[in-house]
Amino acid sequence: MSKRVRKAVFPAGGLGTRFLPATKVIPKEMLALVDKPIIQYGVEEAIASGIEHIIIITGRGKGTMEDHFDNSFELDATLERRGKKELLEVSRSVATLARISYVRQKEPLGLGHAVLCAKELVGDEPFAVILPDDVIDADPPCLRQMINVFCERGGSVLATQTVEGPGISAYGVLAGSPDPGNPRIYNCTGMVEKPRFEEAPSTQAIIGRYVLTPRVFALLEQTRPGAGGEIQLTDGIKALLKEEKVYGYTFEGKRYDAGDKFGMLQATVEFALKRPEFGVRFREYLKGLKL
Ligand code: G1P
Repeated sequence: MSKRVRKAVFPAGGLGTRFLPATKVIPKEMLALVDKPIIQYGVEEAIASGIEHIIIITGRGKGTMEDHFDNSFELDATLERRGKKELLEVSRSVATLARISYVRQKEPLGLGHAVLCAKELVGDEPFAVILPDDVIDADPPCLRQMINVFCERGGSVLATQTVEGPGISAYGVLAGSPDPGNPRIYNCTGMVEKPRFEEAPSTQAIIGRYVLTPRVFALLEQTRPGAGGEIQLTDGIKALLKEEKVYGYTFEGKRYDAGDKFGMLQATVEFALKRPEFGVRFREYLKGLKL
């Protein structure tokens, strides 16, 4: 098996109920963080990490994602006619960002099932999974850091962050112990999807970035519905753990849960403050609110 990680799977078939009513018609992946849909941040992270082929798992009502990453003939022709060169470049560059394939997940059977939908397109090579809700601000990009760990260690790598308190129940949680040679690496011995706080095996929460070996597909095919009655990716990786090494990796950077209203507000403020064109003005505005 080659060690090169060339493909990234983006599960984007979910209903986005945490963000209603905005997501009644608009896919949650298309909600704008400052001025870009959140899925574009993930695609840009993948490309900056060396990924060559993006596989987006879509579902009913998600067509605007495909339009977004395509040429917009009417828009581009109008911008060209009006001499709006910079805007034309913004519009065109989205369409040329990446090679993207789409697979429809016909039923919302869970994250594990969504990843399994990419089996034929991924084939027999290691691949990344990016959950577009999780927007990560990091340099080098979070996925690049994880691919480096994968190349060094050879086993699957899951991004983690420490979550203290009952909030841990919203995540997949690792069991295991920190690696003696590298405090950012966690040697996994087990994992539980959305445990009760009292039953969580550690404070190491899985967040939405994975580098996985293709063996996980065969195991996902055998995975029965778990937490929430869904086929869970965590359960597939737990089965993988019986055959191969799996590592947790505490990435350097900051993660925002942009699929959640509060997380989106935090990301909006912090990403806006970093933007050169209005960061200074926005900082002054926030200061003026005298909170
Ligand atoms: C999914 C995974 C979970 C992980 C989380 C990270 O859950 O199933 O293991 O901790 O993403 O965002 P979801 O948030 O889709 O319920």
